[in-house]
Amino acid sequence: MNKQPQIIVALDFADVKVALAFVALLSPTQCRLKVGSELFTRGGPDLVRRLVDLKFSVFLDLKFYDIPNTVAQACLAAADLGVWMINVHALGGIAMMSAAKKVLQSYGATAPLLIAVTALTSYNENEWQSLGFKQNINTSVLHLAQLTHDAGLEGVVCSAEEAAALRAQFGPSFCLVTPGIRLEDDAHDDQQRVVTPESALAAGSDYLVMGRSITRSPDPQALLARLNEELFKRQ
Ligand code: C5P
Repeated sequence: MNKQPQIIVALDFADVKVALAFVALLSPTQCRLKVGSELFTRGGPDLVRRLVDLKFSVFLDLKFYDIPNTVAQACLAAADLGVWMINVHALGGIAMMSAAKKVLQSYGATAPLLIAVTALTSYNENEWQSLGFKQNINTSVLHLAQLTHDAGLEGVVCSAEEAAALRAQFGPSFCLVTPGIRLEDDAHDDQQRVVTPESALAAGSDYLVMGRSITRSPDPQALLARLNEELFKRQ
């Protein structure tokens, strides 16, 4: 199979052994993996190295947000683990994002992709305004994505609803990573706005973050095979 997997499976497990047992059902030709703050706090760098050793492309989703030097050093530490993608908060500002990007240059072609979170999708408009922001969330997301682009980062995490506008503004090489994906028959769980994998790609997403749709499936491998058959047709 020559096609590159566009599905990133979110390993949102509270137990390292359970996570590894689940990963044993998967293949790096079928999906990439996302390790977030919960599993990382349990399993640490050893777990990440293990997933990298298993040849998975790992998105280390730790959303760094601190002063420029601290974030840059944290990005270096992440790059040392051999991960494929890392992220920071765009709210850290252009100096912070530029410092992170610059420090990764020492890795040359093997540097992880560096993307940014714009506004957390858990914010509603009231909460956003209560933080003192003058613009509404949608305008702020575009502004923060512009800062991300100006700082030379590879892309952003965004909802599928934002993807088309971001794609139009930043062109084909800006990487859009989209969570909130559900299959037609799935429960929405705590996600307010969900889209199917096909609609997210049609809206311009490059990578789809999928957690519970896959981790709760009775046969994750068969489900990934079915999804990839659809998605690979578009590559
Ligand atoms: O289970 P589900 O598919 O909802 O998991 C989505 C994953 O994407 C989780 O790891 C969640 O933390 C992450 N995520 C999200 N919304 C964002 C950013 C990340 O759901 N805006």
